[in-house]
Amino acid sequence: MHERKLMRVLAGETVYPPPIWLMRQAGRYLPEYRETRARAGGFLDLCYNPDLATEVTLQPIRRFGFDASILFSDILVIPDALRRNVRFVQGEGPQMDPIAPHEIANLDPGNAETHLAPVIATVARLRAELPDETTLIGFCGAPWTVATYMIAGHGTPDQAPARRFGYQHPEAMDELLALLAEMSADYLVRQLQAGADCVQIFDSWAGVLDELSFERFSIGPTRRIVERVRASVPGARIIGFPKGAGPLLPAYRAGTGVDAVGLDWSVPFRFAAELQKTGPVQGNLDPLRLIAGGRALDEGIDAILQHLGGGPLVFNLGHGITPDAPIAHVEHLIERVRRG
Ligand code: CP3
Repeated sequence: MHERKLMRVLAGETVYPPPIWLMRQAGRYLPEYRETRARAGGFLDLCYNPDLATEVTLQPIRRFGFDASILFSDILVIPDALRRNVRFVQGEGPQMDPIAPHEIANLDPGNAETHLAPVIATVARLRAELPDETTLIGFCGAPWTVATYMIAGHGTPDQAPARRFGYQHPEAMDELLALLAEMSADYLVRQLQAGADCVQIFDSWAGVLDELSFERFSIGPTRRIVERVRASVPGARIIGFPKGAGPLLPAYRAGTGVDAVGLDWSVPFRFAAELQKTGPVQGNLDPLRLIAGGRALDEGIDAILQHLGGGPLVFNLGHGITPDAPIAHVEHLIERVRRG
């Protein structure tokens, strides 16, 4: 078999036109997702149902033929495995019991392997059912991003509760992040052993951290994951997505050891091209250009291809696709990227 396109890019090869997939490509913008989601009951029921999770993962591959497929699950299955009473309330986003510093020592990861077994079963099913040329991406949340939800108990615009916690209880924060790093690494190893070709670590809230906290709470725990995964799976390919890291992106790449760095849309092209000289990049179309379509979409696509197409690039959005994305615009995006 020829090596899958996205895997060639992660190995440092320039592939043009670049492989394309979209963060959150299985989701509410697809009518077939909404239909399956309604049958599943709750959102977590969907994540833990290998039949239905396999089905929704495959839906965007069947419809659009992306070069990569991302496992359908959520980053918050880790706190759910820690029995933090995670719930997804329609229209309100995720909620869970907020954790206090003194509770951290009592967190018990012992249940995680059993709890997450259905997700691992989904990975195995996917590898068997996906087209041979399609890369299968596993994932987890970065410890910092998962911790922001565990500390606040819900999403917040600036993660002030977790930032304050990090300044007031730095040792408790280190302890929480170390536990999450260890659990997440073991979870990624199981995904890779079950058939994932590579994995992505989502640090969606990296951008709210100052430089000192970024080193300590984002880079450090992510490096732990990378090292622990590669100790079990030598040469494992890993994409890191520290959203909003901006000028700290080179430090993130060097400090974590990830193979490729995901870029959000605020990263300037020249900066991205410099970073690309040190290894592959992924991104970084503003998801709102996809909503707008027309000229806004075309000029966004063309600029990425022009500035980053000459090096190792995985084409993606700069963050997840939103529920209001028109399907015709997604079709147009793929067609234009593939035309090169
Ligand atoms: O297609 C894919 O990308 C794979 C599946 C996936 C989901 N969530 C499914 C999902 C992935 C990779 C995630 C990651 C995730 N989850 C992140 C990191 C990436 C990012 O977007 O920043 C974060 C922060 C979460 C936590 C989370 N899950 C939030 C904040 C929400 C609610 C926000 C919203 O869009 O409603 C979710 C729910 C969620 N995860 C949905 C999907 C398809 C929508 C839930 C639904 O169907 O009702």
